[in-house]
Amino acid sequence: MAEQRSVVVVGGTSGLGREIAAHYAAKGRHVVISGRDGQRAQTAADQIGAKSGIALDLAEPRAIAAALAGVENVAHLVVAAIDRDENTVRDYDVGRATALATMKLVGYTEVVHALLPQLVSDASIVMFGGLAKDRPYAGSTTVTTVNGAVTSMVRTLAVELAPIRVNALHPAVVGDSPYWRDKPPAVLDNLRSRTPLGRLVSMADIVGAAVFLLENQAVTGINLRVDGGWLLT
Ligand SMILES: NC(=O)c1ccc[n+]([C@@H]2O[C@H](COP(=O)([O-])OP(=O)(O)OC[C@H]3O[C@@H](n4cnc5c(N)ncnc54)[C@H](OP(=O)(O)O)[C@@H]3O)[C@@H](O)[C@H]2O)c1
Repeated sequence: MAEQRSVVVVGGTSGLGREIAAHYAAKGRHVVISGRDGQRAQTAADQIGAKSGIALDLAEPRAIAAALAGVENVAHLVVAAIDRDENTVRDYDVGRATALATMKLVGYTEVVHALLPQLVSDASIVMFGGLAKDRPYAGSTTVTTVNGAVTSMVRTLAVELAPIRVNALHPAVVGDSPYWRDKPPAVLDNLRSRTPLGRLVSMADIVGAAVFLLENQAVTGINLRVDGGWLLT
């Protein structure tokens, strides 16, 4: 039997990455997920039926290639990891800002570089940005900055790597994601009231959008907003 074309989700132990990994695992795909801790990643992989969980720290980009050395025959690559820093320019934490900027800009790019020899010729890549790029919230200074940079990153990668396709997904606040679901009801109600659809985006909505970007053969270099109309108000 030909070797299985694998799905790799960097930042697949939690949240949106985990949901996308679970989607492909449920379809019987060979799925590899990563987190910073190997044991935690393997436990998450076992829970969702993924093939394996590996340790990889995007804030340490020089070690990424070695961490991915065993990954082969990649058809779909999703880079979803984040370690949010709550930062404002008035009270700026250089260490946390440097870690997040390194992981989302250099780390995301280095994952692609390291896996390039293992990407199949019609492979597709989805990077996660987020609508904090357009609509900041308290403490989102670095998150806003790096998510804005992801919009440019996919343009250059889509041109450089074609016919491999590269797109970015920019969700609004995902109401049932682990980071947001336990926020105070008043915070979530306020967000909901400003969303034309009258509800927050869900993790299932994001999985659907990611599958579209990964599988539609004509889509590349796109920054897809999934926000229930949030940016229109
Ligand atoms: N949730 C939302 O509402 C929302 C909205 C807009 C955009 N986004 C974007 O969507 C993506 C996923 O967000 P999420 O809320 O689903 O994330 P999450 O639940 O916080 O999960 C983050 C993932 O990143 C991994 N990770 C953290 N630091 C890492 C590092 N230094 N190196 C490698 N992996 C690391 C975590 O693994 P371990 O903890 O196991 O190490 C985990 O798998 C992010 O890029 C985020 O900016 C999310």
